[in-house]
Order: sequence, then C-alpha cells, then structure tokens
Amino acid sequence: MPGRVNNPYAGNSGIEIQHNHHPTVKPLSLMRYLITLVTREGATVLDPFLGSGSTGVAAVQLGRSFVGCENDAEYFAIAQARIEHAVRQVAEAICQDLLFAPRVEQFVEQ
Ligand SMILES: C[S@@+](CC[C@H](N)C(=O)[O-])C[C@H]1O[C@@H](n2cnc3c(N)ncnc32)[C@H](O)[C@@H]1O
Repeated sequence: MPGRVNNPYAGNSGIEIQHNHHPTVKPLSLMRYLITLVTREGATVLDPFLGSGSTGVAAVQLGRSFVGCENDAEYFAIAQARIEHAVRQVAEAICQDLLFAPRVEQFVEQ
C-alpha cells in the first residue's frame, strides 16, 4: 500500500494507506449525537467493531476516552489514522485556547 494518508476521511498520520474505502462509513454528526445521548464528557466509549473509526473520531471530538477493536488490519489502520488525526486536532484547539484566552486579571478593576 504505497503513499501516505492525506485525506479528511483517513486522517493524516503518515500511516501508509491512501483512502478510506470502508463500505459503511458513518456520518460524524450522527455519531456525535448518539454519543451525547448516552455519555457525559470524560466517559469512555467502547466500539468493539471499529470499521473506519467514525465512532472513535466522534468520541475524541466530544472529549470522551475511546477503546476500539477491529479484526481487519486495513480497516484498523484507517481507524487508527483518523482517530490520531482527531486527537491532534483537539490538542491543537486546546493549545490555541490556552494561548489566546484572555487572562482574568485583565478584566479585574484596580
Ligand atoms: C459496520 S462496521 C463498524 C462501523 C463503526 N462502528 C463506525 O463507527 O463506523 C463493522 C466492522 O466490524 C469488523 N468486525 C467484524 N467482526 C469483528 C470481530 N469479531 N472483531 C472485531 N471486529 C470485527 C468488520 O471488519 C467491520 O469493519
């Protein structure tokens, strides 16, 4: 499998796959909605049938921990790439908030 992952479906972790060709990719918005129905922030989501990892991506985006299983090595690589990409995006967003959030002292009257 030549090439690096470089598309929004497969993530961008450098894992050597090109496309997400899993046959049943789920909409992330649907998975986020379902996760918010049944868990709170900080909970752990388990998907024993990872597929291409949409449930994992949605869990990470919502601040949940995630555990997944997949018995097909190719699908596992796609899921891993996508979930790692989501983790990096969330980490970057948190760093941006920490760097640019206004400091409380700025607004306290002297
Ligand atoms: C419909 S897909 C899952 C979609 C996924 N839940 C999502 O969020 O997009 C089902 C996956 O389960 C995997 N699978 C089937 N039997 C399995 C088993 N015994 N253990 C782990 N994975 C399995 C298949 O390879 C397939 O990729």
